Amino acid sequence: MGTSGGSRIVSDRYHCQLGRIHVTGSIVLFGPPGAGKGTQAGRISELTGKPQVSTGDMLRSAVAKGTDLGHEAKTFMEAGLLVPDSIIIGLISERLTNDDAANGVLFDGFPRTIPQAEALAEIVSVEAVISIEVPDESIVERIVGRRMDPETGEIYHIHFKPPPEDISARVVQRKDDTEDTVRSRLAAYHEQTAPLAKWYSEQGLLIRIDGNRPIEDVGNSIASML
Ligand code: AP5
Repeated sequence: MGTSGGSRIVSDRYHCQLGRIHVTGSIVLFGPPGAGKGTQAGRISELTGKPQVSTGDMLRSAVAKGTDLGHEAKTFMEAGLLVPDSIIIGLISERLTNDDAANGVLFDGFPRTIPQAEALAEIVSVEAVISIEVPDESIVERIVGRRMDPETGEIYHIHFKPPPEDISARVVQRKDDTEDTVRSRLAAYHEQTAPLAKWYSEQGLLIRIDGNRPIEDVGNSIASML
């Protein structure tokens, strides 16, 4: 796969060990809402052995449990706005004290601002940033058609990855997956998150993946890069 700007091809630091890819630090999955970060995370975790750390999932869990943090985050999430950096950085710092984070993690949806990335750089080494690139016009259809199985957490899409018939009655739609909210989320992405691509590219960490292809093809590209 070609690279541009400061992007790079994964170096020989990444090598196969007993079928797993050995990456010494953390990996960041980067991209707009609905790019397919959650969809691809499981496969990358399997390949690298790194646990997925999704700030979106952590926040939704806090909202569901009705914690103080959940109450604070809820208003921002439902409006399609980013939750303040101080909350997110606190959440991540705590998560990284778990034993399973000792050999790096797979960040999904974090960092999303330059201050978050700067805070992260102080506590862990980021070895690769996988940027899944999808044009805005494809995003709305992906988000509005997304469904999730509350029992397994598996992500589906009514057209692109329909849920199997035996579970189709129990799949749910995220509260922030409306057309209006997705437009706010896209605006927040372009204003606050997209500049991070340049930031990471200048550090030679950004790996660009064309995410506007079938799910399997995107996964194969990521796997071949790793
Ligand atoms: P979060 O949960 O992180 O949402 P997001 O970044 O908006 O990402 P999504 O989960 O919507 O999309 P995804 O890229 O994982 O796509 P998916 O794989 O599901 O954050 C939610 C909110 O929490 C934010 O709005 C914010 O308020 C807050 N927040 C979270 N982290 C924060 C942070 N760090 N700082 C501040 N605030 C934060 O795929 C989407 C759909 O497309 C699915 O239906 C899937 O089946 C389908 N699909 C996937 N790939 C393909 C493909 N290749 N072709 C066709 N369909 C596909």
